[in-house]
Amino acid sequence: MSDCKTYYLTTPIYYVNDVPHIGHAYTTIIADTIARYSRLKGIDTFFLTGTDEHGQKIEEAARKRGKTPKEYADEISAKFKELWDEFEISYDKFIRTTDLEHIKGVQKAFLEMYKKGDIYKDYYEGHYCVSCESFVAPSQLVNDELCPDCGKPTRIIKEESYFFKLSKYQDAILKWLKEKKPILPESRANEVIRFVEEGLKDLSITRTSFEWGVKLPKEINDPKHVVYVWLDALFNYLTALGYGSEDESLVKKYWPAKLHIVGKDILKFHAVYWPAFLMSIGYELPKKIAAHGWWTRDGEKMSKSKGNVINPKEVADAYGIENFRYFMLREVPFGADGDFSEKALIDRINNDLGNDLGNLLNRIIGMAYKYFDGKVSSRDIEKYYANELSEAREIIKDIEEKYLWKMQTHKYLEELWKILSIGNKAIDTYKPWELMKNGEEDKAMALIGLIANLLAMVAVYLHAVMPKTTSTIADTLGFEINTERFNAINEGILLNDFVIKKIPPLFPKIEKPLMKKEEVKKEPENIITIDEFFKVELKVGEVIEAEEVKKSKKLLKLQVDLGEERLRQIIAGIKEYYKPEELVGTQVCVVSNLKPAKLMGMMSEGMLLAAKDDSGLSLIRPEKKKKTGTPIK
Ligand code: ME8
Ligand code: MG
Repeated sequence: MSDCKTYYLTTPIYYVNDVPHIGHAYTTIIADTIARYSRLKGIDTFFLTGTDEHGQKIEEAARKRGKTPKEYADEISAKFKELWDEFEISYDKFIRTTDLEHIKGVQKAFLEMYKKGDIYKDYYEGHYCVSCESFVAPSQLVNDELCPDCGKPTRIIKEESYFFKLSKYQDAILKWLKEKKPILPESRANEVIRFVEEGLKDLSITRTSFEWGVKLPKEINDPKHVVYVWLDALFNYLTALGYGSEDESLVKKYWPAKLHIVGKDILKFHAVYWPAFLMSIGYELPKKIAAHGWWTRDGEKMSKSKGNVINPKEVADAYGIENFRYFMLREVPFGADGDFSEKALIDRINNDLGNDLGNLLNRIIGMAYKYFDGKVSSRDIEKYYANELSEAREIIKDIEEKYLWKMQTHKYLEELWKILSIGNKAIDTYKPWELMKNGEEDKAMALIGLIANLLAMVAVYLHAVMPKTTSTIADTLGFEINTERFNAINEGILLNDFVIKKIPPLFPKIEKPLMKKEEVKKEPENIITIDEFFKVELKVGEVIEAEEVKKSKKLLKLQVDLGEERLRQIIAGIKEYYKPEELVGTQVCVVSNLKPAKLMGMMSEGMLLAAKDDSGLSLIRPEKKKKTGTPIK
């Protein structure tokens, strides 16, 4: 990994049915860390993130809020982008699957696969999980009904659909998984291999029962189909580089991706479907797919209904974004689930950052000023502390191959912290105050120099995790963090002599939790604003005529006066509860701006308000007679 010329890495593109939470932040922060590290090494890096905006889930989420899918997607996509910008995520491109270039790229890929003979038309009949946007085979269902991944009820769908010949690629995928070992951590590979070995069925890749998706390429001329959202989404990794556009130079430069970072929930899509699609269009497969675990809060699964979802912005506002980054990367072994609690976060800040790192810096600032007017020199380090220095150099030697490129960020940080403990231990062992008392000034100076150099190593290697904090540390120690310095540190070049800067403590001790305790308010999901309510126009009307609709058990045909120029015809499902003659002359409440619709061939231009329970249905009427057309507010 360290010898590659370009490095292309991606996060999943996030669904816009939900605002960003800690899980999204985690994936994005790991990716940002890897991207920053890669750039620091001088590798030409391209880091992609973005939003996944099509599909049934988004269409329904938008409708529930009275918005068009595009309006809704614009709003939530912007929230993701704003948050990443606020967190200074160093992405090179933020892709949206509603981008025109992306849509064109997906259509091109679809056509390629079609021409290759990998796509055929048939029917899909079976279960579908809208929440995961996935087709669920009968054998995978839990209790004959529930999605095995998210536990929500699936729906039965039956519709015409195009299929991708996934089965054709089974052996090739298996070979790739076994020989190239692309999955990280490797312990997750087995479950994917087992899934493939059980047999791959062809995959439904279009839907016809809703509209919010990429249309099929015009060459195929089948306008009622939209592309299955996962096919659409996975291709973002190529379309972001210009695949399908006039300029494919970035594809040439950066493809294949070196790394797709994903949560364990979507590993199958990336390690099975995606490589099959790529093989079909004749593109190289990604080098690594890294799947991380799940975040819980105080030991519990996060969910909107429990009201315990962590808003990453709140954490960052309270504790600082860099401390939060450190915590997430240090707290969990990559691939395992992690638990967020303020206590765990505070412990990390006070102990790892405050005691181990911050105090070490403060100790040498104090000593340098006490004994040497702030001057620090590397001159005699090798003479007095060669062991300490080589121990530290040993740690950074293979830390990236062993841990960083394998996403083992917790190990990586643990190793760096060993360098800090070499420094802290050296002070306790050699006691510079005694050296000074005994007239061993050179040795005391060398000790301060040693620690400055250890801190420089840590600052450089920690830079990708905590960019600003480490730049401050570097500034205090008289250097800048850049590729040149990265190389110098690795070549064993020590810091030039410098005057250390005095700075206030980097990590003031945190005594009590800083996040506002939001009372767990469970706002019902269907809450609307007053403006939304006023979109519904309600009026008092008077029934002028009423008759039965002959062939219908339920319907009455009414002519209602709403104080307008002409009467409104309203077809109402109240025949079982009211006789036409008892309605004439009475007042009713009418939804008057409902889009007219045909019921049994007759236009209906409004709707009556009614309440129905076990004892039957009764119309809602004004308590006292009102002028017809009076608005109801
Ligand atoms: O799956 N803990 O989008 P998504 C850790 N659009 N990570 C979590 C998490 C949690 N509790 N919850 C979510 C999709 N994530 C598709 C992806 S890619 C071509 C299309 C993270 O909005 C984790 O990385 O549901 C997971 O894979 C991702 O968010 C899913 O985000
Ligand atoms: Mg999800």
